[in-house]
Amino acid sequence: MKDFKDIIANAIYDEALGLSESEIRELIEIPSDEKMGDYAFPCFRLAKTMRKAPQMIASEIAERVSGNEVFAKVENVNAYVNFFIDRAFFADQVIKEVNSRGDAYGRSDIGEGRKVIVEYSSPNIAKPFHIGHIRSTVIGNAIYKLYDAVGFDVTRINHLGDYGTQFGKMIVAYRKWGSEEELAHDPIKTLLKYYTRFHQEAKADPSLEDEARETFVKLEAGEAAEVELWKKFRELSLAEFNRVYDMLDISFDSYAGESFYSDKMPRFIDELKEKGLLIKSEGAQIVDLEEYGMSPAMITKSDGSSLYVTRDIAAAVYRKEHYDFYKCIYVVASQQNLHFKQWKKVLELRGYEWQKDCIHVPFGLVSLSDGDDIKMMSTREGTVVFLEDVLNTAVEKTAEIMREKNTEGVDIDEVSKEVGIGAVIFQELSNNRIKDYVFSWDKVLNFDGETGPYVQYTHARASSVLRNASDEEISAVKAGGYDFGHLTSDSAYTLIKLIYRVPEVVIEAADKYEPSILTRHLIDIAQSFNKFYHDEHILVEDRDERLAKLALVLASRTVIANCLGLLGIKAPERM
Ligand code: ARG
Repeated sequence: MKDFKDIIANAIYDEALGLSESEIRELIEIPSDEKMGDYAFPCFRLAKTMRKAPQMIASEIAERVSGNEVFAKVENVNAYVNFFIDRAFFADQVIKEVNSRGDAYGRSDIGEGRKVIVEYSSPNIAKPFHIGHIRSTVIGNAIYKLYDAVGFDVTRINHLGDYGTQFGKMIVAYRKWGSEEELAHDPIKTLLKYYTRFHQEAKADPSLEDEARETFVKLEAGEAAEVELWKKFRELSLAEFNRVYDMLDISFDSYAGESFYSDKMPRFIDELKEKGLLIKSEGAQIVDLEEYGMSPAMITKSDGSSLYVTRDIAAAVYRKEHYDFYKCIYVVASQQNLHFKQWKKVLELRGYEWQKDCIHVPFGLVSLSDGDDIKMMSTREGTVVFLEDVLNTAVEKTAEIMREKNTEGVDIDEVSKEVGIGAVIFQELSNNRIKDYVFSWDKVLNFDGETGPYVQYTHARASSVLRNASDEEISAVKAGGYDFGHLTSDSAYTLIKLIYRVPEVVIEAADKYEPSILTRHLIDIAQSFNKFYHDEHILVEDRDERLAKLALVLASRTVIANCLGLLGIKAPERM
């Protein structure tokens, strides 16, 4: 399909203007008021080169380009040339493109196969996979899908928190109070119980903390007994995480977590030393960042053990060497902003120019509303809302709602999973990611609001219209040859314009690491489709008109399904 800004730039271009076609294209605007046309070209910049009043230039251009079949009307208002696209021509171009590209509509190849890493989810093993983790998991997955859609070669990494002093605590607790059966029965909840008990008992007996520290040092030194227990915790935890990933239909290319870098740190620490960046401070080794207004980055503790930031530094270097990424994206909560600033600074001071391609994509907190049946959480106190429970609840509540509705012919067991889980994902991706938000069932599952169920319902509605057409009609819709002049009403035109913009919206969302840009656009499309559906009679007598309208319904359904797919949400045909 032709890009309409290109078409306009080409029509405007004239040697005498002294601007290239691409310079002209850059100047073209989309007026906020539709009365001023679909596109507008401001002539202020030309006034200098042409030594003429901009109004006069605008009127000359308007005169010269009117008559072009692409435009229904070209008008000059003050220094602007306003372009009104011919609606039938536009409908023809856009709908044919969508219906011929199908699943691929919205995708592009601007990434040129360059390597991008998206790191997301990254829960801590032996700890609950709780509602707080949902954001990184779901936002990260959408960012992966967006980058894949615009033509990058994406590797998904789950940087598991499978290392650190807490494993010293966990091992001590397990040895003191643990039982093998209990652990096998319900691993994470059991480990959580031991961990909670450790913190309670350590209040009275601080020597437990020392014991835990010593145990972690042994683990880091690779002592067999400690490593064996740690491995067991890791495997049991992963099995639980995978259950949740399966529900969300999310997978990873690598689970190289923090432990993976334990033998890759010494080299890096030596290099920092050689560069004179490491300073001894009370037995620990730090990089002083005072000059940059930050607290120091602690690289090794006084007992020689490594820290979170040390492992992140090693991970970045490893990834650069191993994947030679064009970009490495870290989808991690804004609570870790300082950590990522310190980490980047250390990489920069070490002389790694590529640190500029490492991008921390932060997001705000999710909290739970008071009245809800889920409460605030604290791992230490053992009050946690498990993500798995949230997803199961979403599915159950959805099934209840569906049973109350008239849902004949719908496989409620299957569809309530797609809708319930889709609703939770959609809610996560609805707001600007940096905003904190409050999770509430009423908002998540509202079938009429700006929600996942609403968009999915719109998709099912379009599917149902298409089911009411005969196979012969659907083939005729795909073959073309009818008059797009039937799709020039305001509601059809608004819908087609939104569909036309999908590929650029996908690019923008990827560029800004902001899936909500696509989510918002998708809500606009769904609302606009529903307006078209209510305003117009689709399955009319006149065959030509019916085919044209069905073509728009088919294109709408395709676009909604594609956009839901990019957000990691299913598009049921019936619900
Ligand atoms: N495991 C960490 C947590 O749960 C998140 C890891 C983020 N990624 C990283 N490269 N530091 O807080």
